[in-house]
Amino acid sequence: MPFTGKLDGNIVVVGLQWGDEGKGKVVDRWAAAADAVVRYAGGANAGHTLQVGDETKVLHLVPSGALHAHLVCVVGQGTVIDPAVLLEEVEWMRRRGLLAWNRLRLSDRAHVVLPHHKVVDALRESGERPIGTTRRGIGPCYEDKAGRRGVRIEDLLHPERLRELVEAAQEHWRPWVEARGGELPDVEETVRHYAALGERLAPHVCDTSRWVDDALRSGKKVLFEGAQGVMLDVDHGTWPFVTSSYAVAGGAAVGAGLGPQRIDRVVGVAKAYTTRVGRGPFPSEMEDPLGERLREAGGEYGATTGRPRRCGWLDLVALRYAVQVSGIDWLALTKLDVLDGFEELRLCVGYEGVDAAPGDFPARGLADARPVYETLPGWTGSVQGCAERSALPDEARAYLERIERFVGVPIGYVGLGAARGASLGTADVFAEA
Ligand code: GDP
Ligand code: IMO
Ligand code: MG
Repeated sequence: MPFTGKLDGNIVVVGLQWGDEGKGKVVDRWAAAADAVVRYAGGANAGHTLQVGDETKVLHLVPSGALHAHLVCVVGQGTVIDPAVLLEEVEWMRRRGLLAWNRLRLSDRAHVVLPHHKVVDALRESGERPIGTTRRGIGPCYEDKAGRRGVRIEDLLHPERLRELVEAAQEHWRPWVEARGGELPDVEETVRHYAALGERLAPHVCDTSRWVDDALRSGKKVLFEGAQGVMLDVDHGTWPFVTSSYAVAGGAAVGAGLGPQRIDRVVGVAKAYTTRVGRGPFPSEMEDPLGERLREAGGEYGATTGRPRRCGWLDLVALRYAVQVSGIDWLALTKLDVLDGFEELRLCVGYEGVDAAPGDFPARGLADARPVYETLPGWTGSVQGCAERSALPDEARAYLERIERFVGVPIGYVGLGAARGASLGTADVFAEA
């Protein structure tokens, strides 16, 4: 479909790096013109920040359209749900007058993060091969799902079945947990607590795939909000330092339950530099005062765990790979303002010391990669407040153009600050057609 510059279909917004690219802000901005926003992957490991006026809100499970009272927030079956976290966000919506019963739709098929998942996650992280997870029980929950154990949202509404499923899942983990000196949560207590949480969630539970199908058939505009980022995708990311779900754009079809041909456009969100939380290879990382300066200027501390994010230059090799595996139509480049005042900017355009053709993103050995940089001049003054691309300093425009040339897709949106309206470019692509 040719790009008309309007919201002419359904759009997936996906992170292209190691998460925290600013997806929440982008989705919140565009949600004004959508009818529904769907979360399709991950769980409360995600932290999506909305800054509106003086208020800052981090959402973990409810889609970032929550502040727009007109639209429906859908949490699809590809997610894993910590009911207490979701209910905290539901309460927040209620207090703000943002929650009509039919505004939030939760998939009956989504899996539930149970207390034993957090026990297993924490034991692993304090073991010999931690990867720096968020300790939200995400990996073990997806493991139970793939292992055909576990509990789905609909099971919360049937306490007897719930008890059997919790027991069976815990028995699977018992030898492993006890061998490491851990203790499994009490089954009866878990069942009581989760059944009560299930009752509170019940009004929102439905077949969300069916709901999305109906919405699309009736011509509604749907935004699909990615969580994490391509580099954390379980198949395409820097395995094994990844999360446990499909963070690529294709995850929207899987995790929301719709055919891939019904996705019209994919927008990739990337920071103007790179960050990563947790362990794993990061060739363009800056472990020096400049990296520290980036962390402070960008407020790079985790929205979910508060951990300092590792910071580095923009890695164009990784970005081009992410664009390829997610089929990106155009980029939303966030946090350009954070680069204000840097005398020089570097772009990673290749790796040395890896077993891959030049420019290719290697399957392994990334930890040994030595980045090859191109250096561009920084700009004086600030990009904040610029109303259009032509108003940016020459050096900032050259930076954007170099990125576009390297990755082969246009930049349609540029983030210039954390506040809702602080952006330029085609932020109005989602206006009424
Ligand atoms: P997400 O997980 O992709 O939604 O991103 P996070 O919310 O975890 O982290 C992005 C952080 O950057 C948040 O604190 C946002 O408020 C902030 N942010 C988003 N876009 C911009 C931008 O263009 N400029 C600046 N300075 N901050 C931004
Ligand atoms: P949003 O949606 C940044 C990272 C963790 C860890 C790895 C595995 O806000 O971009 P997990 O708890 O998922 O098993 O941890 O993945 N991670 C994220 N990093 N942003 C996220 O989400 C993340 N979700 C998971 O730090 O390295
Ligand atoms: Mg985040």
